[in-house]
Order: sequence, then structure tokens, then C-alpha cells
Amino acid sequence: MKDLIVIGGGGFAKEVLWLASDCNRKVKGILDDDMDAHGTIIQGAKVLGAINTWIDYVDCEFVIAIGSPRTRFQVYERMLEHGKPCFAKLIHPNVRYSNTVEFGTGVIVCAGTTLTVDIKVGDHNVLNLNVTVGHECNFGSFVTIAPMSAISGNVSLVDFVEIGTGAAVRQGLTIGQGAMLGMGSVLTKNMPEFTVYAGNPAKKFKELPKV
Ligand SMILES: CC(C)(COP(=O)(O)OP(=O)(O)OC[C@H]1O[C@@H](n2cnc3c(N)ncnc32)[C@H](O)[C@@H]1OP(=O)(O)O)[C@@H](O)C(=O)NCCC(=O)NCCS
Repeated sequence: MKDLIVIGGGGFAKEVLWLASDCNRKVKGILDDDMDAHGTIIQGAKVLGAINTWIDYVDCEFVIAIGSPRTRFQVYERMLEHGKPCFAKLIHPNVRYSNTVEFGTGVIVCAGTTLTVDIKVGDHNVLNLNVTVGHECNFGSFVTIAPMSAISGNVSLVDFVEIGTGAAVRQGLTIGQGAMLGMGSVLTKNMPEFTVYAGNPAKKFKELPKV
């Protein structure tokens, strides 16, 4: 198996380094644009240089360890300006899923998460610790689901959706592109694109700029 390069050196990257170790992946190092971090060691891995130097490591696989969907996408686009990196799928060995769950490229699925049946997890999704996903859910690209969230059956999350920690989503709903559901929210209605909803029941909080 190819060595792994972790993109990003923040708090989530530290968790991804732990995940990589649980997945028995050998980490070659970290790429991060914080010049002060270059040469330092984070969670046992050396910060090798800036993100645009990924091209020096084409024999490796990459994982973008950035929680925010928008920032993850921006970094992804910048990487593609220099070539076509090979992205790893990191799925913790204790994640439970049936053989009708499809994972896209570059996904990160953390320990304790369970996905049941007929589920599509799009490219570069991040499903953090102890998330549950019910039957026939469909997630677009660059979706992030924070720890302990419960996504009921038949839910669609369009590209760049972000679900806060411990949120619950009623079955059959659609959350529009780039929308964000606040931590601890209970979502009972569809969410339009580029909005923030929060509370129980979740109500519109504010609008977000388009991606
Ligand atoms: C919903 C959210 C996006 C709002 O952020 P914000 O626009 O910066 O809002 P503020 O923090 O300024 O809060 C504004 C008000 O809403 C309240 N509020 C914030 N988040 C809330 C939530 N999730 N549910 C209910 N009320 C919330 C605040 O207490 C505050 O109330 P006040 O005006 O009475 O003081 C944010 O609080 C949130 O939930 N983010 C997700 C965090 C998360 O899950 N991170 C995962 C890390 S792995």
C-alpha cells in the first residue's frame, strides 16, 4: 500500500493521523501552508512543506484532513492546479456498513460510525466519530458530518453540506447545497441551499455566501 500524506496540520489532522494509524497506514508526512510549522512534528508526523509541493510526492496517496467543506474544496482545487493526486479512502476498521454502501474517493470515516443499507457517500466526505446514517441516504461531494449526528433514512445532503455535532435529521429530508445545520439541532423540514438552521425544531438562523 502507498504511503500516506496528510494535507493540513490542524486539530482534525491530528485525529486523522490517529485514524491512519488505526488503518495501518504508513504516513510519510504532513503538508501545510503554515511556514512556521514546517519541519515540526505533529502527532508523530513531520510537516514536510507547503501544500503545493504535493507534486514531489506523487507516489503517495493523499487525504485532506480539513473539517470545513468549503476549505477542503478550496484546497482540493488548488491541488488539482498542479496535476491529478491520488486520494486515499480512510475508513476506520470498526466502522459498520453493509455491502450496499458506496464510498466515494477521498472519504474519511472515523471510529464508531454506522451506515446501514443502500447509501451513497460522495467524494471527499468526512463522517466524524459515532455518526449514524440510515437506509437510502445520498450524500453529494465535500459533505461534513460532525460527531454523534443521526441522519435518518432517505435523507439527501447536497454538495458542501455541514452537519454540526449531535444533530438529528428527520427521514426523507433534503439539505440544499452549502447549507449548515447547527450543533444539537433537530431538523424537521427541508433546508434551502446556503442557509444556516439551528435549534429544536431547527429554524433559519442566517444565509451563507455561495461556494
Ligand atoms: C449554528 C452556528 C453555525 C451559529 O454560529 P454563529 O453564527 O457564529 O452564532 P453565535 O455563536 O454568534 O450564536 C448566536 C446565538 O445563537 C445561539 N446558538 C448558537 N448555536 C446554536 C445552536 N446550535 N443551537 C441553538 N442556538 C445556538 C447562541 O447561543 C447565540 O444566542 P444569543 O444570541 O442568545 O446569545 C454554530 O453555533 C454551530 O452550531 N456550529 C457547529 C459547531 C460544530 O458542530 N462543530 C463541529 C466540530 S467537529
